[in-house]
Amino acid sequence: MSHYKKHVFFCLNLREDGRKCCQDGDAKRMREYAKVRVKALKLAGAGGIRVNQSGCLGRCSQGPSIVIYPDNVWYTYQGQADIDEIIEQHLCQGKIVTRLLMDPQEESPAVDFNARI
Ligand code: FES
Repeated sequence: MSHYKKHVFFCLNLREDGRKCCQDGDAKRMREYAKVRVKALKLAGAGGIRVNQSGCLGRCSQGPSIVIYPDNVWYTYQGQADIDEIIEQHLCQGKIVTRLLMDPQEESPAVDFNARI
């Protein structure tokens, strides 16, 4: 059994050369918001959910980017309401938030969207 049930990785990559990056979407603040919400819902910690930061996840054009493992589900978001929906639907209820999924054909590593929770 793994230490955490799920890892939620927020790309916090910042580019200062004008190329698109996830910090364009307020990623640092959204990750902090998610950490606070997951903790408040008592989902955080061993056997639960870990909210981590990451560097570029290679899906910049669809970002800001989140990937949840081991589910291998990739999301994008536009604000706190989307983060709330991912937490409430995906992390609490195990339901994929279809409207926030990234396009699996674009910039995608091998993603198996059939391997659901
Ligand atoms: S900058 Fe976030 S996925 Fe590349």
